[in-house]
Amino acid sequence: MNKKTVRDLTDAQLRGKRALVRVDFNVPLDDAGRVTDDTRIRAAIPTLTSLADRGAKVIVMSHLGRPKGKPEAKYSLAPVAAKLRQLTGRPVTFVETTDSDEALKATTDAKPGDIVLLENTRFLGGEEKNDERLSRALAMLGDVYVNDAFGAAHRAHASTEGVARELRPAVAGLLMEKELDYLGRALGNPEHPFVAIMGGSKISGKIDVIDSLLPKVDRMLIGGAMACTFFRAMGLETGKSLVEEDRVDMAKQLLARGKDKLVLPVDALVAPSMDDGAKAHSVKRDAIPADEAMYDIGQESIRLFMQEILRAKTVLWNGPMGVFEKPPFDAGTNSIAKSLASATRSGATTIVGGGDSAAAIAEAGLESQMTHVSTGGGASLEFLEGKTLPGVAALDDR
Ligand code: 3PG
Repeated sequence: MNKKTVRDLTDAQLRGKRALVRVDFNVPLDDAGRVTDDTRIRAAIPTLTSLADRGAKVIVMSHLGRPKGKPEAKYSLAPVAAKLRQLTGRPVTFVETTDSDEALKATTDAKPGDIVLLENTRFLGGEEKNDERLSRALAMLGDVYVNDAFGAAHRAHASTEGVARELRPAVAGLLMEKELDYLGRALGNPEHPFVAIMGGSKISGKIDVIDSLLPKVDRMLIGGAMACTFFRAMGLETGKSLVEEDRVDMAKQLLARGKDKLVLPVDALVAPSMDDGAKAHSVKRDAIPADEAMYDIGQESIRLFMQEILRAKTVLWNGPMGVFEKPPFDAGTNSIAKSLASATRSGATTIVGGGDSAAAIAEAGLESQMTHVSTGGGASLEFLEGKTLPGVAALDDR
């Protein structure tokens, strides 16, 4: 990686000093305010504990949800502080207020090895505007800046980008380094055969990723409702399936450009509605009934996709194959998850983009059987599109 990381910081830069660490603790909470998926918190712990072990005062900041620049109780990081205490087994001081003097006092009162979690950065008006004054105020809270928030690195906000211009050294955390290494290697130097699996409902959100990956992959497998827009482009009947009419031409161009690299499902699991799982049945892709819709790829497609995955040396997966929250339409997604696990066992590098595919992997309990599951949804998509992530660009070069 061409950016400095926490490994480049000397002990003198850390011992007794305040390490201001931006993490992505934007985690789901239930109605009782409990964290329902702590993946992102666990993923940042190596950075936090290594800084604490090296004698730094660890000052942690994150956003949660999308409050509009002022405090909103339901977006408080208080439940995250409790989770962080539990997962690190260390005391964590939570600074409930957004008052900058109080935050500053908490950072100076902290002892080496302490962890201090600040309240949601999006409670601050200037955060999303990348306000210079706020960036400077945040910079006062640390002696070094560490960005470990890969999931928020596509946002040019005060706590992810502006602060790095005000506080040096500004380096990547261990999670950020790992994410950039795995995703960067897949883009820059993948071992072949390289197979990408794209899914999800819409082509529109994935078009730039497909565009950027198509020249690099040996095969691109297409699943999810987005396959139906391709079916329409091939002149097939798609029934009541979700089709993006305004993207049909784009799908035609991709089919022409992708040639035999693009692998579409050969059959579909269809039903009158997604709540009618009991009536689900498999049909060939050219036999989707006019009054039904595709909600998953069919068994033959699963076999075809599995063969391609098991031949690969690098596999990159982004987006579910069907409505995986509703059985029986989870079969395609689950089978892909299992195929990736087998591919990992056979020595392939398997990388899962964040968001829904990461959630599906977690639900199947297969996280540990992947080479890397990204903690970034939008960030991993933008990275794979070849875009520069502002939160990364702002860090010190090697
Ligand atoms: C995410 O969940 O993708 C990141 O935390 C970014 O959140 P945002 O889309 O609200 O900026």
